[in-house]
Amino acid sequence: MAELIANPGRRPGEPLSRLVADYVGAAAAERVLALLHACPRYRPTPLLPLPSLARQLGIGALMVKDEAQRLGLESFKSLGGIYAIAEILMQAAGVGPDAIMCDRVRALAATRTFVCASDGNHGRSVAAGARLFGARSIVFLHEGVSAARAGKIAALGAEIIRVPGTYDDSVDEAVRQAEINGWTLVADTAADTEDPIPGLIMRGYTTIADEVLAGMKALGGPPSHLFVQAGVGGLAAAMTGHLRARLPGAGPIITVVEPVAADCLLQSAVQGRIAEVGGDVTTIYAMLECRRPSPLAWEVLRGAADFFLSVDDDAAPAAMRALAWPQGDDPGIVAGESGAASLAGLMTVLAWASWREQLGLNAASRVLVINTEGATDPDLYARLVGRTAPQVA
Ligand SMILES: Cc1ncc(COP(=O)(O)O)c(C=O)c1O
Repeated sequence: MAELIANPGRRPGEPLSRLVADYVGAAAAERVLALLHACPRYRPTPLLPLPSLARQLGIGALMVKDEAQRLGLESFKSLGGIYAIAEILMQAAGVGPDAIMCDRVRALAATRTFVCASDGNHGRSVAAGARLFGARSIVFLHEGVSAARAGKIAALGAEIIRVPGTYDDSVDEAVRQAEINGWTLVADTAADTEDPIPGLIMRGYTTIADEVLAGMKALGGPPSHLFVQAGVGGLAAAMTGHLRARLPGAGPIITVVEPVAADCLLQSAVQGRIAEVGGDVTTIYAMLECRRPSPLAWEVLRGAADFFLSVDDDAAPAAMRALAWPQGDDPGIVAGESGAASLAGLMTVLAWASWREQLGLNAASRVLVINTEGATDPDLYARLVGRTAPQVA
């Protein structure tokens, strides 16, 4: 059953620790944007107001940041892997963002193999980053990853290695093979906070918060509430850390949304330390199926997130349909199950008067949710939503 807890470790106004400030703090997005502005495919993703749905839900405004339209790769994850690979190559070649496409970087990239384990979206990002600079990439996929998702990664030039078992088994295999072969592992979580790569990936995601802040003026002001979904917590930490640093003392009430079956951040908040979820973590929110938070993400969220919420699988189709079948003049939005999880979280809270009150949600609230991915499985989307998703080239 869904659960909501106020973060017992919340420390309002406490600055980000030095460890994470470099990755998600006020200046973090600038370095990413310096690179993105050199990319012809880059444009900010839309920040879409849904006034009719807001009215129906009894809140003042609802805004959806539509990451399904990110870099032609259908999810926010594309910001992380591509940026991390660019940063690794820039640092190795000793150049800055203005020289990212120079011969030295390309020659270096030609000698490197970037690898990762993935449920789908991160693999696409690593494959796209490696291809952009002319490097080799290998993506380890567990047996539950659909052929459709595998095909999209392979189409970006990655070699696919299938691993029997679960996501955790594919992570272990990627780590093992990277060590044996001298490949560079691009993972969005690590055993401890020493590994810089999960931090670089989070820095890539701060672009989303930066774009939200840039777009807010046009929409009449910053959000009063943010709902953000989490797997290992990288996205939630990037959004939370960056917004806290840029809006000191005035930031939104931030709720981190996870599946009931895989609520590792909520459990960590309850226990006051990183907790691991046991048993079966299978959920409709397949991209959020994580047993253990990223230590670096936890370092941000443990003091800066306001609430942790777990949501039932049943909440996903309702949220997907609310976006797919718009009311009034609202735009239609294509969201996959994990993509719609933050809206599912908002709708879950609004269904309970006591939770609504706890979060201070009312007719004056301006709520931001993030659609983190499009319909990456067209058959499942059509079954859950009752209409076909447009295909992305
Ligand atoms: C579509 C989607 N939404 C949300 C997330 C959660 O991101 P994180 O693992 O950084 O918490 C993921 C992670 O893969 C994802 O693919």
